[in-house]
Amino acid sequence: MPKIIIANWKMKLSVEESLRLASKLNVGLVKSHRQVIVCPDFVSLPLIAASGFSDNFSLGAQDCAIKNNGALTGEVSSSTLKEVGATYVILGHSERRQLQKEDDVTINEKVLAALEAGLKVILCVGESAKEKAAKETKKVILKQLKGALKNVSLKKSPKGAEVLIAYEPIWAIGSGEAMAAEGAAEIAAYIIKEGEKLLSKRPQVLYGGSVDVKNAALFLKQKSISGLLVGGLSLEAEGFLSIC
Ligand code: PGA
Repeated sequence: MPKIIIANWKMKLSVEESLRLASKLNVGLVKSHRQVIVCPDFVSLPLIAASGFSDNFSLGAQDCAIKNNGALTGEVSSSTLKEVGATYVILGHSERRQLQKEDDVTINEKVLAALEAGLKVILCVGESAKEKAAKETKKVILKQLKGALKNVSLKKSPKGAEVLIAYEPIWAIGSGEAMAAEGAAEIAAYIIKEGEKLLSKRPQVLYGGSVDVKNAALFLKQKSISGLLVGGLSLEAEGFLSIC
């Protein structure tokens, strides 16, 4: 199975910059053996989809609404995202948990809505520096998994339904200090074990948090790590392509 590389562009690029980067990736990824998923903002996503990108990568959104239709001013539904070209959606990213105060109940609603609309889910979990210091990493992750995946069974979901789980220690995101690959692999194995019980299917687990050109290979070498969720490095074509 090819390893998966996800680009999370966050809110860091203009539409013009997003289109320019997508077109560079389109050319650069022709020879890649990886499965690449690019996650632009809501506005750029349909424009990239319409700009004729080939099979080199899939598109993912960075969030979705808790329902697929309703009086939810300002929200964007999974079904609309699918309609304009998204295949995946990132849910439960720590920036949304912290800044938008998203809790596990909300994330669970979004997971269910996304799967119902036929989007594949990239669920983010991970502990804070304080929780790590208190040796609560596994406890925190288990709570996040149980909350976000409540009533989610891939056996009962529509065909092709998928939940990828990204382990992103919060202290490693954007800090320049990635976790040691062996430690990440141990947590990934734990997530596979617990995720399988909840999903009735063995999930693929990715690592995210200060992935760079040097450490990417160390993570990708780990058996329990199926890929990477990349923030900063994904904003620049040359560096990103070097890990794809
Ligand atoms: P980073 O971001 O690679 O810049 O640490 C990862 C993420 O937030 O998904």
